[in-house]
Amino acid sequence: MKISFAKASQPAEGALVISVLEGRKPSPTARQLDEKTDGLITRAMAASRFEGKKDQTLLLVAPNGLEVQRLLLVGLGKPEDVDVQAAEGWGGMVMAQLQAAGDEVVTIAVDAIEGCSLAADHLAAHVAFGARLRSYRFDKYRTKEKTEEKPSVGKVVIMLDEHSAAKRRFSVLDGIAEGVFMTRDLASEPANVIYPESLAERAKSLADSGVDVEILGEKQMRKLGMGALLGVGQGSERESQLVVMRWMGAEDENAAPVAFVGKGVTFDSGGISIKPAANMEDMKWDMGGAAVVIGVMKALALRNAKVNAVGVVGLVENMPSGSAQRPGDVVTSMSGQTIEVINTDAEGRLVLADALWYTQDRFKPQAMIDLATLTGAIIISLGDRYAGLFANDEDLAARLMAAGKEVGELLWRMPLDDPYDKQIKSDIADMKNTGGREGGSITAAMFLKRFVKDTKWAHLDIAGVTWAKKDGSVTPKGATAFGVRLLDRLVAETYEQK
Ligand code: BES
Ligand code: MN
Ligand code: ZN
Repeated sequence: MKISFAKASQPAEGALVISVLEGRKPSPTARQLDEKTDGLITRAMAASRFEGKKDQTLLLVAPNGLEVQRLLLVGLGKPEDVDVQAAEGWGGMVMAQLQAAGDEVVTIAVDAIEGCSLAADHLAAHVAFGARLRSYRFDKYRTKEKTEEKPSVGKVVIMLDEHSAAKRRFSVLDGIAEGVFMTRDLASEPANVIYPESLAERAKSLADSGVDVEILGEKQMRKLGMGALLGVGQGSERESQLVVMRWMGAEDENAAPVAFVGKGVTFDSGGISIKPAANMEDMKWDMGGAAVVIGVMKALALRNAKVNAVGVVGLVENMPSGSAQRPGDVVTSMSGQTIEVINTDAEGRLVLADALWYTQDRFKPQAMIDLATLTGAIIISLGDRYAGLFANDEDLAARLMAAGKEVGELLWRMPLDDPYDKQIKSDIADMKNTGGREGGSITAAMFLKRFVKDTKWAHLDIAGVTWAKKDGSVTPKGATAFGVRLLDRLVAETYEQK
């Protein structure tokens, strides 16, 4: 789908989207059309329940005399409530309504809104962004889809007077969308296609955008002493990998980087502590954290962010086999600390233990943020709306929460208090890898904390938000890429040189 920006005086094509504010207040474009059509819009609104409230829509056939075929009225609500997220929701709503409805071209008229804090070019760029994000489909394995089920829209034109300014703004957002799409693609792929080596290969494609990509295999990881990560992968036929991505966009090439670390379990069967069959297919997206790290590195590179950023992902497949690790095994991590593996299904923390240690040891980052589909317990705590945030630094936690709020990827702060640590004491090793059912997400985070020295660190447990069972305003159901936009925003606001 192509998105372009055109001057408002250009003739519109295809389906024309016009906006209406709450109280049936038409936008200037809608008012013009109303006059041209002898009050068609006013009549249609009066005859229906469409009042211009946020998310209301009304689809009309365009009367003779207009160049367009159909008219879609979109309600924006109150002017003071039209913010960036509302604009994105507007674009998303348009795609949800029209993408597969037969129209080939959609023209969205974006007028300046009196009483709204955003200028038209700003609004328009985010309308386009929302449309782009919502248009995502993972359909490469559908070989029998009928034409009438496929998207019909090939072109979206955003019309406004300040079209060049909007286009410039959108070019930045488009880079972020590319990162989001890469993340969604990776998480959507099945585990017979995406396994540690093939995922590392996909990450390598970031080199085309100027990211330096290094891949470590099992031999190199063994040399580094990564016994925790390697233990998880030892039951799999697939070789474990560690991928290190570096984007050096800061003027000062010696500036300490911000680091992102991702859990990349390409399939989590549970290992010898095997999971029940129901929903086990979901565990193809247990590499969701790694996919976000790869996607955000791509986004930073595409929008040429002025920052030094490092992405490290630990890639393993957790399988039961004759060579798999057993409950009760003791492994030695790169940090030298030993771990008693009580449950082989608590594997993500083992992977992150070595990935986190490696990252802070090698890069001395100014801040380190990990993302992981770490615990089922976070889904019990927070459901699918908020991701869990654990942090050893107040400022970092506040900045993350603020960035999340701005992009609509919400975080809820969870405790990381020392008393929880006693739940992971082991009788024979430095710690064990499970802390019982009580506070399961917290004890998982306490485990990770043991592998962080004095680096500012945050851990996002994204198990509940990585995969959506229902469509969202800018996220079709499926892989959400939750975290890409949030981390991009954090970088823009906190780590980027202006
Ligand atoms: N990958 C899972 C967590 C998960 C569950 C993610 C459901 C997404 C949806 C993780 O590796 C896991 O199995 N965690 C266990 C830990 C337990 C054995 C201590 C869990 O949450 O049950
Ligand atoms: Mn598991
Ligand atoms: Zn897992």
